[in-house]
Amino acid sequence: MHHLIKEKLPPHLAIIMDGNGRWAEKRSLDRVEGHRQGAESVRRIVRASREIGISHLTLFAFSSENWSRPRLEVDALMLLLRNYLETELQEMLENHIRLMAIGDLARLPQEVQTALQESVKKTAQGRGMTLTLALSYGGRDDILQAVRRIMSHGRDGNLKPEEIQEELFSKYLWSRDLPDPDLLIRTSGEMRISNFFLWQLAYTEIYFTPTLWPDFTREEFIQALLSYQNRERRFGLTSEQVRVGDG
Ligand code: IPE
Ligand code: IPE
Ligand code: MG
Repeated sequence: MHHLIKEKLPPHLAIIMDGNGRWAEKRSLDRVEGHRQGAESVRRIVRASREIGISHLTLFAFSSENWSRPRLEVDALMLLLRNYLETELQEMLENHIRLMAIGDLARLPQEVQTALQESVKKTAQGRGMTLTLALSYGGRDDILQAVRRIMSHGRDGNLKPEEIQEELFSKYLWSRDLPDPDLLIRTSGEMRISNFFLWQLAYTEIYFTPTLWPDFTREEFIQALLSYQNRERRFGLTSEQVRVGDG
C-alpha cells in the first residue's frame, strides 16, 4: 500500500539509469551482466509507472558519450536494446503504451533502428503512457541540432530572430512532443546530469539515490514519488504566492 496522491504525480518523469557496471563488478560479474539486470529493472519500473498512472516516462538509456565505451560493451548494450524492444512490444500494446525515441538515432545499428521504427509505429495509438527512450542522446547535441534547424529556417526567410522564444525553441528540440520533466531520478549515487536534458531540466525536481539501477525496486520508486509530492515547487516565486495560487 502506498499513499501517493494521484493528482500530484509528476506528469513527466525522467530517469538516469546508472550503476549497472558497479552492480556487476561488486559481484565479480561481467559488466554486461549488470546491463542484463538493468533491463529487468527497466521492465519493472515501466510496469510500475503504468500502474501508478505516470503519463510520460523518459529513460536515459544510452548517451552520446557512451559510444566511447569498449566496443564489446557497446555491442552488448545494442543487442540488449534490440532484445528489449522485441520482447516488450506485445506488453506495450496490451497496456496502451506509446513508445518514442529521442537522440541521434542515425548512429544506432541498422537492426536497432529498424526494431525501434517498428515498435514506434505499432504503438503510435497508445494513450495509456508515453515511454520515451533517450538513445545516443546528448543534451548539447540536442541544443545544437535545434540551433542548426532554426538557422536554416531563418535563412529560408521562415523565421525572424524575435520569433525565437522559449516555446518555439522547445519545438525544435528532440523532446518537442514532451512537456518538461517534473521529476528526475538518478540512481548510483552520482550527483550530476551527465549531458542529459540540459534545456528541459530548468525547473525539474531531482531525486538522487545511492541505489544501483539493477537494485532499484518498486518500493524505492514509490519513495521517490512520495518525496516529490512533499516538495513545494516555487518557480522563483515566494512560498506565500505559491500557496495562494494553490488555494
Ligand atoms: C548505466 O550503467 C548504463 C549505461 C550508461 C548504458 P553504467 O554502465 O554506467 O554503470 P556504472 O556507472 O559503470 O556502474
Ligand atoms: C549516464 O550515465 C548515461 C546513462 C545512464 C545512459 P554514465 O555512466 O554514462 O554517466 P557518467 O559518465 O558517470 O557521468
Ligand atoms: Mg555509469
